[in-house]
Amino acid sequence: MTLRIEPRNATLGADIYGVNLNKGVSDADFQEIWRAWLEHAVLVFPEQHLTEEAQVAFSRRFGRLERMTLKSTKEIIDLSNVGRDGRVVDAASAQALFLEGNAIWHADSTFRTYMPKAGFLVARQCPATGGETEFSDTRAAYDMLSPDRKALLEGLEAVHDYVWAQSLIGGMEFIHPDARKEMYPVTQSVVQVHPDTGRKHMVIGRYASHIVGWSVEEGRALLRELEEFTVQPPRVIAHAWKPGDAVLWDNRCVLHRGRPFSLAEARVMRRTTIADDHPENVWAL
Ligand code: OGA
Ligand code: MN
Repeated sequence: MTLRIEPRNATLGADIYGVNLNKGVSDADFQEIWRAWLEHAVLVFPEQHLTEEAQVAFSRRFGRLERMTLKSTKEIIDLSNVGRDGRVVDAASAQALFLEGNAIWHADSTFRTYMPKAGFLVARQCPATGGETEFSDTRAAYDMLSPDRKALLEGLEAVHDYVWAQSLIGGMEFIHPDARKEMYPVTQSVVQVHPDTGRKHMVIGRYASHIVGWSVEEGRALLRELEEFTVQPPRVIAHAWKPGDAVLWDNRCVLHRGRPFSLAEARVMRRTTIADDHPENVWAL
């Protein structure tokens, strides 16, 4: 099998063929995948039907994995609308409200001091229609900002706050009380330099509440304006899932959101999250 990389658009996304992630990836193929991931930022591996073990093993080649709570040793998180009884949960349930947050543009865990480098999402069960995931390129968006806007953003920090963001939707009861205690606001530079590519991107999205040193209203307005600009074509791609598909994104320079689908249908996804390498990152397993 030879690896084939088919770009989705000029800046964002590529479909990867010619690898079997369940069997493992050679070092040579991994190097190519790594380079493609840095360049295209979203990689789609169609119909891989990964086992949990293979999902964890492939994810670990990118770095240590992020856990949801400091006590947890779980490497995979279950993002599904199916309850413990095997039935689709009610739309008003805490679990459904928790998932609803994923429908708003965000990058994962920007509310952690060391935000994760990547997300790797595997589809187990998909609704017949809808339920796509969209991705948006904050590198391409930064590049297109006016010189004035770029100058304004230089040195700005935003406060990222999970509790604030999720409280706008509800579903906090779904979060374990231990985990809730571990969630506090953190600051992130709005513009960051990618450690592997040297390109600039923006860290924004739904957890970004306001700007340090600005009034909450003004900061929030700027953050929403930047987000609105980022998620315009041609900086957005959508992935329509088939069961078994796996998608890896660079969480530092990509926003994502899930699209609506019939809440009577099951949508079962499993995510691994690749943590920042910093030695003091206590969220890394
Ligand atoms: C995620 C996420 C969106 C989706 O897995 O982090 O936000 O479409 N998913 O499920
Ligand atoms: Mn997410």
